[in-house]
Amino acid sequence: MRVARRESILKDGRRLVIRSADRVDALDMIDCLKQVATESTFLLSYPDEITYTESEEISIIDRFLNAPTSAMLVAFVDNRLVAISSIMGQSRRRKMCHRAELGISVLRDYWGLGIGARILATLIEAAKNAGLEQIELGVFTGNKRALALYRKMGFVETGLVPQAAKLDDGTYYDEHRMVLMLDRAIEDVLINPEY
Ligand SMILES: CC(C)(COP(=O)(O)OP(=O)(O)OC[C@H]1O[C@@H](n2cnc3c(N)ncnc32)[C@H](O)[C@@H]1OP(=O)(O)O)[C@@H](O)C(=O)NCCC(=O)NCCS
Repeated sequence: MRVARRESILKDGRRLVIRSADRVDALDMIDCLKQVATESTFLLSYPDEITYTESEEISIIDRFLNAPTSAMLVAFVDNRLVAISSIMGQSRRRKMCHRAELGISVLRDYWGLGIGARILATLIEAAKNAGLEQIELGVFTGNKRALALYRKMGFVETGLVPQAAKLDDGTYYDEHRMVLMLDRAIEDVLINPEY
């Protein structure tokens, strides 16, 4: 699905633009994902595993634009692509099509400015409009910033997958599973003009 473009002012006074990812964004999106994977061990992939070509990324963007319960957003500060986030609905199986899985990546230099919260608020609203009933996600133990953000947006923990990720150095991360039931989403978060 395509989500309406949004502009807002960040905590540091800069302008944030959030919109659906389009074909022209493909190369910048690959660079952004690689950089976040370098800056954080909490993503699913190592940087060397992000090997999409521009045309593969374009196919992914097209799939998100055409799927009724999926959306891929990109966020820009000073015309730089600084964040990517998506909800992926399970539209092929009728028993599962009320659910979507969320992911988000923000470049480290832009953490703590409220970008994550504004992107999530945009996706939550889009998910509701698309008729989704719940958004789910996984977050690795130790990712305090992400846990704080998700709790603030109303997500609750549903369980823990032990040793969900094994790093190259042998360290394990457990994974918190979280869910946001959309009929219980915090309305004032969604209508706050700041978001
Ligand atoms: C997790 C991530 C998406 C957050 O994005 P962000 O733009 O920094 O998020 P926001 O600024 O909107 O909010 C972060 C919140 O966490 C809080 N926070 C930051 N560090 C924290 C810590 N150590 N403990 C608790 N809370 C913390 C911030 O204070 C902020 O809350 P506030 O606005 O109420 O003050 C971003 O850091 C990121 O992309 N990280 C790397 C990839 C990743 O982990 N993705 C998520 C995988 S599940």
